Amino acid sequence: MTGSGLVLGIESSCDDTAAAVVEAGRVVRSSVVANQDPLHAAFRGVVPEVAGRAHLDRIEEVVDLALERAGARFDDLAAIAVTQQPGLVGSLLVGLSFGKALAFARGLPLVGVHHIEAHAYAATMEHGEVHYPALALVVSGGHTALYRMEGPGALELVSRTLDDAAGEAFDKVANLLGLGYPGGPALSRLAATGNPAAIQFPRYRAKPGRPGFSFSGIKTAVLYHLRGQNALAATPPPEDIPDAADVAASFEAAVVDALVEPTLKEAERGGYRTIVAAGGVAANRRLRGALAERGAAAGIAVLLPSPAYCTDNAAMIAGLGWHHLVAGRLAPLGLDASPRG
Ligand code: KG4
Ligand code: ZN
Repeated sequence: MTGSGLVLGIESSCDDTAAAVVEAGRVVRSSVVANQDPLHAAFRGVVPEVAGRAHLDRIEEVVDLALERAGARFDDLAAIAVTQQPGLVGSLLVGLSFGKALAFARGLPLVGVHHIEAHAYAATMEHGEVHYPALALVVSGGHTALYRMEGPGALELVSRTLDDAAGEAFDKVANLLGLGYPGGPALSRLAATGNPAAIQFPRYRAKPGRPGFSFSGIKTAVLYHLRGQNALAATPPPEDIPDAADVAASFEAAVVDALVEPTLKEAERGGYRTIVAAGGVAANRRLRGALAERGAAAGIAVLLPSPAYCTDNAAMIAGLGWHHLVAGRLAPLGLDASPRG
């Protein structure tokens, strides 16, 4: 029933138009991501209408390129997997409608994939054996949460951020420092030249026994550091921030701490043998290093995706889609998009 084992994945939940061909859930034959950053940069954030239209303009070309790079034709495919939730509904609908039309026209099974489950799966895709249950830290521009992961796609929420996602905090602080959008990677590059101990930004600590995250306090602390304590003062232009590299490094250190501490604590409390981390912020070098170091000290395996599979991509959709296909979890052609997780 899985035939060739080749699954075409389609992802369009936010501002990346992506398609990939993955064999048997793990061998990435192609992965194409058309990034829309230049279209949203002027607005310093994703504009949903612009994102939806750009997906529409690019989806056909991106899917064709993924098939071409994989050396595959539609007849070679076992199924089409498409992100169904959560995300911007106008964006999700483009990939979903395209996937449904292809499945119908080519007589292929359709599989609906949950974006967050796919991020967590990405962390396991490139590794051999995974000891479940794993504790999954999914940390991106829209999400920051811990899940108990019993297997591919089997996630149960443990706790999520009380306010902002960590990636959003990276983007907002990068914006304050004049680093453009999306700011995470640029802020991280600047941080590498600064002193992470220069400024003590606050780290949120949840009540004992309750793992939790919060990033609004760190964001506000950076704002006040830049403005001085005068709430009515304007934020200085980037060229007037002499300690920008120290701010970036200290902010990054605070966010990494606020992610790693609760994750390790919960992993030890719950007796987990594996931690997986995924989502755009999992591409961050400091976070990867801290998780690996703390995991090794605690005797817990830490699995991370390659940076290309941390940020939004369709290989994770095709990969998890294959597991759904094998388990017979097929979607009807009436499958609808859902903005919620
Ligand atoms: O997973 P993703 O591509 O999209 C969402 O589902 O949100 O994550 C994008 C987020 C952005 O906030 C971006 O600034 C952040 O991930 N990001 C990083 C790094 N690379 C991407 N944050 C910190 N350091 C990085 N190296
Ligand atoms: Zn994502």
